[in-house]
Amino acid sequence: MSQFELKDEQNHPRPDVPEFTQMIEKQVSRRRFLGGTAALGAAAFFSVSPLSRAIAAATSSPLLGFSAVPTSTADTLVVPPGYTAERLISWGDPLFSGVAEFIDGGKNTATDQLKQFGDNNDGMSFFSLDEETAILVVNNEYCNYELMFEHQGQKMSTQDVAKAQAAQGVSVLTLKNGPQGWQVEKDGRYNRRVHANTPMAISGPAKGHPLLHTQADPNGERVLGTFNNCANGMTPWGTYLTCEENVHGYFGSQQSAHITPAQARYGIGTEDAGWQWHLFDDRFDVAKNPNESNRFGWVVEIDPQDPTSTPIKRTALGRFKHENAELVIDKSGHVVVYLGDDERGEHIYRFVSHNKFDPNNNEANKNILDEGTLYVARFNSASGGELSGTGEWLPLILGEHGITPESGFNSQAEVLIHARLAATQVGATTMDRPEWVAAHPTEPIVFCTLTNNKNRGVLDNQAINGPNPRANNHYGQIIRWQPSHGHHTDDTFNWDLFLLAGNPTVHQDIYAGSENINADNMFNSPDGIGFDNAGRLWIQTDGKYSNQGDFAGQGNNQMLCADPTTGEVRRFLTGPIACEITGLAFTPDNKTLFVGVQHPGEDLAGSHFPFGGNHTPRSSVMMITKEDGGIIGS
Ligand code: FEO
Ligand code: CA
Ligand code: CA
Repeated sequence: MSQFELKDEQNHPRPDVPEFTQMIEKQVSRRRFLGGTAALGAAAFFSVSPLSRAIAAATSSPLLGFSAVPTSTADTLVVPPGYTAERLISWGDPLFSGVAEFIDGGKNTATDQLKQFGDNNDGMSFFSLDEETAILVVNNEYCNYELMFEHQGQKMSTQDVAKAQAAQGVSVLTLKNGPQGWQVEKDGRYNRRVHANTPMAISGPAKGHPLLHTQADPNGERVLGTFNNCANGMTPWGTYLTCEENVHGYFGSQQSAHITPAQARYGIGTEDAGWQWHLFDDRFDVAKNPNESNRFGWVVEIDPQDPTSTPIKRTALGRFKHENAELVIDKSGHVVVYLGDDERGEHIYRFVSHNKFDPNNNEANKNILDEGTLYVARFNSASGGELSGTGEWLPLILGEHGITPESGFNSQAEVLIHARLAATQVGATTMDRPEWVAAHPTEPIVFCTLTNNKNRGVLDNQAINGPNPRANNHYGQIIRWQPSHGHHTDDTFNWDLFLLAGNPTVHQDIYAGSENINADNMFNSPDGIGFDNAGRLWIQTDGKYSNQGDFAGQGNNQMLCADPTTGEVRRFLTGPIACEITGLAFTPDNKTLFVGVQHPGEDLAGSHFPFGGNHTPRSSVMMITKEDGGIIGS
């Protein structure tokens, strides 16, 4: 999330809504203390359909072989005994010879930044080429002006905006494996920066639609750049998917502008989020370029093996505040992409390709993401307050389920550009900020983090519902679903909650969390999530790190590992001061894990990670190995 949104979260006291709280306390204290009968757990999830129980009870897991680390408020990255964490790369490291090194205190130029590693690294993928060569593709989500500029953002200029635009997007890194393990190769043949001014193509059903036309691009087919690149996905045909998330905050105007209801639903208005791009770059002035914002909020496909390739915005995957793009090949051969829209009260989506993946013909797969159907999830609650139920995928197709000209949709392009409005039209369930989606490597079961939602039970359109059972949800939960007939293409599923985060040292009720959460593994705000190929579920947090009040004893942001079958959750690492832990990628042998430390020391919180001393804190990719050379987590 942007630094500005985070401030908003932290500065607003929680409104009191006892009626919701009481209702849910009744439901959940019952289930929480039913003990054995409520604890059939996740083992049953894999074998029983439909689901009969919600919330896993933890039993000791054969998958988790490391010692848990305690919470931490230290300015360092802590890993379990027997593990080593090294720095791979940090914001501002040059990717090419002749480019300036990072200078503390915000002194680098926009020209430097164009060829340096971007800021606020987030989602990333590891592409293995051979034993010695790989490509690590890393998202660069946003900037911290208080660290990026000597004036801390107080005196922005055209050059400063250019630097902020250069610091976002994607960094493509050539990695070489040697005696020191994996290292970034300066001038490596795949090294590339993709940023907010990189030329890109628009493809799929919305390509060319008038809502995408601008003065600079009267055909709606070409766009400059990508920014606020949150999480990611990778395809079996060798490409990387980068997801545009909080793009609304870069648009604004000093003039009055006609803001449509659709723009308002996407957060577009004359007030930006503080980035000030519109003051120096007319492209971001909504009065002067009302359609430019429609060209952001997409999933962008990049071929990392060709540094000259043009990134492509895939409009068939819909426009919203994309978190990640979890791509699986269904048993039928169809490509399925699960997608979260990270905003309070927004939705979970699924794309199903029209054509089938062909493992022997990458040329045929190249544009497979351009044709298919976008669906949105409706979660039906079971009766009696059970935290489980059935659900269905509702197609977003012009002419179906009330998506018609009468309800404001004149073409399939409009359905995709305004996917949020179409989702509301078909009755999608409002969720507690869907973040990453992760599909199990072998079983047809899918997990999604719902990070938190202060509006749940407070705003009329966000009443508590089955998968979002807590008002003022400041801890978050993880939902999972299983297709009814074992196919990711099935249109119905069964869901339950894998865990409710909480604080059992502060609360005795539903805010204590589910039974698999205890004083030793508690955390708040699950965000990044992903499976390794043995089926361990890795969970990263972007939560409150005050270590006080409701968050007492939870320390800095962290990464945990869970066994999806037993429900056990164990803390694997803790991050430095004021960071978020986000982004994970394994080597195929699972012996090296890359983890992102994002914005240590945000808001001048006093971190000097990773270099210590008085150095400027810098977002970094860390590389974790086991001292005995073994598999991470085992
Ligand atoms: Fe960029 Fe929703 O986190
Ligand atoms: Ca987040
Ligand atoms: Ca995130």
